[in-house]
Amino acid sequence: MSDGDGELEARLVEQEEFEPSDEFVEQANVSDPAIYDEFEENWPHSWERAAEMLDWFEDYDSVLDDSEGPFYEWFQGGKLNASYNCVDRHVENGDKNRVAIKWEGEHGETRTYTYQDLYREVNEFSAALLDLGVEEDDVVTLYMPMVPELPIAMLACARIGAPHSVVFAGFSADALATRMNSADSRFLVTCDGYYRRGDALDHLEKANEGLSGVDHGVDAAVVVDRLGDDGFGHDLKGNQHDWDDLMADHDGARVDPVERDAEDMLFLMYTSGTTGEPKGVKHTTGGYLAYTSWTSHAVLDLKPEDTYWCSADIGWITGHSYIVYGPLALGTTTVMYEGTPDFPERDRLWEIVEKYAVDVFYTAPTAIRAFMKWGSEFPERRDLSSLRLLGTVGEPINPRAWKWYYQHIGDESCPVVDTWWQTETGGMMVTTLPGIGKMKPGSAGPPLPGIDARIVDTAGEEVEAGRAGYLTVNKPWPGMLRTLYNNDDRFVSEYWQEYSDPAADEWVYFPEDGAKIDDDGYITILGRVDDVLNVSGHRLGTMEIESAIVGVEGVAEAAVVGGDHEVKGEAVYAYVILEDGYEETAEMRERIIEGVEDAIGPIARPEQVIFTPELPKTRSGKIMRRLLEEIANGEELGDTTTLRNPDIVTEIQTKVQGD
Ligand code: WTA
Repeated sequence: MSDGDGELEARLVEQEEFEPSDEFVEQANVSDPAIYDEFEENWPHSWERAAEMLDWFEDYDSVLDDSEGPFYEWFQGGKLNASYNCVDRHVENGDKNRVAIKWEGEHGETRTYTYQDLYREVNEFSAALLDLGVEEDDVVTLYMPMVPELPIAMLACARIGAPHSVVFAGFSADALATRMNSADSRFLVTCDGYYRRGDALDHLEKANEGLSGVDHGVDAAVVVDRLGDDGFGHDLKGNQHDWDDLMADHDGARVDPVERDAEDMLFLMYTSGTTGEPKGVKHTTGGYLAYTSWTSHAVLDLKPEDTYWCSADIGWITGHSYIVYGPLALGTTTVMYEGTPDFPERDRLWEIVEKYAVDVFYTAPTAIRAFMKWGSEFPERRDLSSLRLLGTVGEPINPRAWKWYYQHIGDESCPVVDTWWQTETGGMMVTTLPGIGKMKPGSAGPPLPGIDARIVDTAGEEVEAGRAGYLTVNKPWPGMLRTLYNNDDRFVSEYWQEYSDPAADEWVYFPEDGAKIDDDGYITILGRVDDVLNVSGHRLGTMEIESAIVGVEGVAEAAVVGGDHEVKGEAVYAYVILEDGYEETAEMRERIIEGVEDAIGPIARPEQVIFTPELPKTRSGKIMRRLLEEIANGEELGDTTTLRNPDIVTEIQTKVQGD
């Protein structure tokens, strides 16, 4: 622990509440606490405030149509285009020379796109997509790393009304194929590769392998040349096109943004659930864009003249909502960084903050825990005084990490917003408003204005302050998912079953998170209550990992649980039973790890593979995951008397401790 941390221990450790500075409050986009009452009294019309942040080709007729709950519709009858709102209108309003995207590659090369540049490139790529045969409502899959062509492709899709489905570049070929098959997607935009810790990675090989697993065939693929001479020498196949050639062919092309209905799909985003099949979360044009614009304004406090940086990957919802759509709709400058935070050195992110004089920075607790571990000397090397506001998202942040972030990155002068939300919610739901609320480290804060979040027990009754319960959302909101792609039944059963009363037409959204609330109405998130792990802020279904392991030759059965991890938050622990005749060797362990990487990607790589002759099961044959978690965490074991095979527990424990 460095001296800075020692000092922190002494001074801030007892402090439980923090107030934003007067200086921050004075300049904040939202600083009048009356906003909470205004939203409540005027709900749902209060949401017009969000819709008014957008330019509509045609006004909407109603704010909310709740006649078919939980299939709510927002801003019905309105027509708009997301690409127009994120690009054209800023050019038309005299801001064409403002920087839209500042991109930095891992080796330090930079690219700057003004709104005019973005306008030109988005138009040209829209024209290229149309020429390739993409029609309105066709799903275009974008399997791309953090290159500027990714947001350009997203906005081009939005321009022509083709929903995009971005697949995180770290996912495997199989994961790509599964998502393209599920979305009936016949078009792909991908990239030859990218850099990670100085090395060029071959991405196109994975993309090609994924494409060969697409059942319905693929009409066209576009390949961005990121690596140049460092590339891997792949020849483009018959239906594959080079991005630069296409852009040259469509030089100067203009494509009118199509008028999309507010409820038309803007994009699909696949996320993990409790079954082995990822869920295609559907977001729409009007509600999503209004919601991300509003929350970028109210929570991230973004102003058009800001330089803003969210260090997430665009392959996840955080990047969609808060690198691309929200910030660009507001006409802000958004920063994109290709690489890792520790390349070439552990001060890389702070170097970028200094270089671009970043005003607002948004990251994840897993990153903050890594920064803490590396020590405060790295941020101390850089001038971070441009920062005005900090944010976190993705998993619970423990008070110590919160305070470290507040002190060492924010110099005790930037408010920290701890934002709870999900792929499904489209945008932030529970957080303080930085210009209004006091902050309590570890607690996300109250629900945002207009969001009716409550903590309930299993019967759906609100729990007392301080008691653990389940987080629910009792009113719809514009950014909500509309359904799961091609699967309305699963949409209802996944999210609206637990606490709703369909007969009374009362619909309650259940995000499957545990939480508690205090006397001030501040909500502390306790974590997932379903079989979904949160590894480095990424959602992974235990079933998905288990089925990957069971797919490995020689494996009979597998159970996956999350074990505590200092940096990742949770790590994957895999308990594996082998078939007779297979040996518990290092090679077998390697094959299991590879199996998981092939099916999902390196993010799901098991931290530990523990071979066991049996799994602890109840008399009815259910695996006792709680015990497996306790073993992973080296905790004292709870009740084992209901087990059919109690002896196995000590046997497994010995193995884990031995590893
Ligand atoms: C967790 C990421 C505590 C939560 C935007 C949720 C959080 C899941 C927070 C969604 C937070 C997200 N505090 N937990 N501030 N933010 N989570 O879909 O369990 O990748 O259900 O969306 O992350 O993960 P997803």
